[in-house]
Amino acid sequence: MDFQLTEEHLMIQKAARDFAQTELLPGVIERDEHQKFPAEQIKKLGELGFLGMMVSPKYGGAGLDTISYVLAMEEISKIDASASVVMSVNNSLVCWGLEAYGTEEQKQKYLVPLAKGEIIGAFLLSEPEAGSDATSQRTTAEDKGDHYLLNGTKNWITNGNSASVYLVMAQTHPEKGSKGINALIVEKNSPGVTVGAKENKLGIRGSDTHSIMFQDVVVPKENRIGEDGFGFKFAMKTLGGGRIGIASQALGIASGAYELAVKYSKERKAFGKEISQHQAIQFKLADMATRIEASRLLCLKAAWEKDQHLDYTLSGSMAKVFSSETAMWVTTEAVQVHGGYGYVKEYHVERLMRDAKITQIYEGTSEVQRIVISRSILA
Ligand code: CAA
Ligand code: FAD
Repeated sequence: MDFQLTEEHLMIQKAARDFAQTELLPGVIERDEHQKFPAEQIKKLGELGFLGMMVSPKYGGAGLDTISYVLAMEEISKIDASASVVMSVNNSLVCWGLEAYGTEEQKQKYLVPLAKGEIIGAFLLSEPEAGSDATSQRTTAEDKGDHYLLNGTKNWITNGNSASVYLVMAQTHPEKGSKGINALIVEKNSPGVTVGAKENKLGIRGSDTHSIMFQDVVVPKENRIGEDGFGFKFAMKTLGGGRIGIASQALGIASGAYELAVKYSKERKAFGKEISQHQAIQFKLADMATRIEASRLLCLKAAWEKDQHLDYTLSGSMAKVFSSETAMWVTTEAVQVHGGYGYVKEYHVERLMRDAKITQIYEGTSEVQRIVISRSILA
């Protein structure tokens, strides 16, 4: 048992923290208000290797471990969760999925530019009628011999407009249920692909979330990931790691709000002393710090298990449900510590509170995580 971060971990943590302070903090309020995608900042994150952190250098990645990824996700999310969701999707859903299950040709063609951050990717599982109930895929990938014909609609797709490459789950053999689903690599500029309007959201307003429509889109057979019918397992395996990414995003949102609350409590005076001298505020801060530390340990444990090639499905779900609920609680308390100032945009905590909510919904709601956890502990 060793709770010590290595020199390399500390270096990556610092690089992410510096980037967040210098590149993301300026303009984060305006981007949230105007729903502006952080395009320039994402480009720079890619140049620094943060979009393909765990990909082998052989495929253009930084070759780092999952612990480094958790540390970087926390630091970026403290400041801008709209940027960190792009990082999470590209790293843990798109790049990881391709590196783990793609063919050598798919890796050369798609993974290399994705890992270098030259392009970004998106993961298309959810549909208007298939969110938590993800096996109920209505999008079809009809087998036409040397290609699939893709038809249907995907909902709520992060990076929907900014991505060049989509990993799309679609039903090929409805009679086989979840075993009939395929995962296909689809280029966004393929004929028949339409990007719907950008969703006007409560939080992570800088990230671009869209519906994507497919009408008779021709997808070559060589763009299928894994064997025929592997698509649902591909999605579940990939989401296992994705949930560590979102858990770390929630951890970062919580610790960002906590740091602001500590700072503010030492500046604001009421009844003749700093509010940090009032026990009610001290206890709030103590509870925040404790829950955040527990979230961090769960995230790092899941990351460690992944790095050790152990099964991390249970620990990833535990990290996600605990960290996202912590983020919602801590950010709400951080607004409370700020009083009226917490309710306005300049103090950042109201945005963090709005951003926290999504971590309880995407990549499997809190209820879905509890399904995964309870199935595992009762098995
Ligand atoms: N690894 C491998 N295989 C798995 C698996 C896993 N973790 N979980 C399930 N499977 C397999 C099962 O073994 C089963 O296969 P067999 O029939 O061969 O045994 C098959 O998949 C179907 O599984 P279930 O019977 O367990 O399926 P279910 O209908 O009961 O659903 C569920 C299970 C956990 C609720 C799942 O549907 C789920 O995770 N839903 C949530 C979907 C989700 O997380 N969406 C996120 C979209 S991406 C996103 O949100 C990105 C973003 O915001 C940034
Ligand atoms: P539903 O599944 O309809 O759930 C509604 C409620 O019922 C929830 O509280 C849910 O927990 C509960 N519920 C459902 N089934 C059960 C059950 N069996 N037991 C107990 N409770 C249950 N998807 C992608 O594929 N790619 C993306 O990039 C992506 N990005 C997203 C970005 C944003 C901003 C948002 C809002 C969503 C995104 N999603 C993405 C979709 C997201 O994963 C789904 O919204 C989520 O999985 C929930 O599905 P749903 O919205 O259909 O809710």
